Amino acid sequence: MKFKRVFLIGFMCSGKSTIGKELAKSLSWKFCDLDEEVQKEEGMSIKEIFELKGEDYFRKRELEVLKLLVLEDNAVISTGGGLGANKEALELMKRHGLVVWLDVSFDAFLQRCKDVQERPLLKKSLGELKKLYQERKKIYSQAHAHIDTTDEPNKIAQRIIQILQ
Ligand code: S3P
Repeated sequence: MKFKRVFLIGFMCSGKSTIGKELAKSLSWKFCDLDEEVQKEEGMSIKEIFELKGEDYFRKRELEVLKLLVLEDNAVISTGGGLGANKEALELMKRHGLVVWLDVSFDAFLQRCKDVQERPLLKKSLGELKKLYQERKKIYSQAHAHIDTTDEPNKIAQRIIQILQ
């Protein structure tokens, strides 16, 4: 296999963690959730990090944790929605593995995220979220591969395996 790592990027609620777990299981690779790692290191939830230390601090920490995770071999790494839209982070991921953009439509994002209140960014207005979605799409589109997420997670995982081979 040419790549030792797969990075999943995309907007909130695009299924990065669910698909990542499926993919890791199918490949018998380890699964790492970057948000979980940041929370473990900080000893608090992302919501608390945003509230107590601010968004800029969180962005700095997620980039630092990514710099450690890019060294893991045979790993599927799911990232938070902001990381794949950070050009420095995206370039780093592209140098270390296959970067897959899991594309979710804005309507599907709203539908899937409507009951998940702990994401700090969901406090934004609909207009602000739409703007963020459109801005981020331009950067996500620089990933190696682009996959639409309307299919079942296991089918998407199989498609990623085909790209890897
Ligand atoms: C964020 C997405 C979240 C989490 C944080 C910020 C973002 O991850 O990293 O709340 O900027 O889009 P998910 O994409 O897993 O929701």
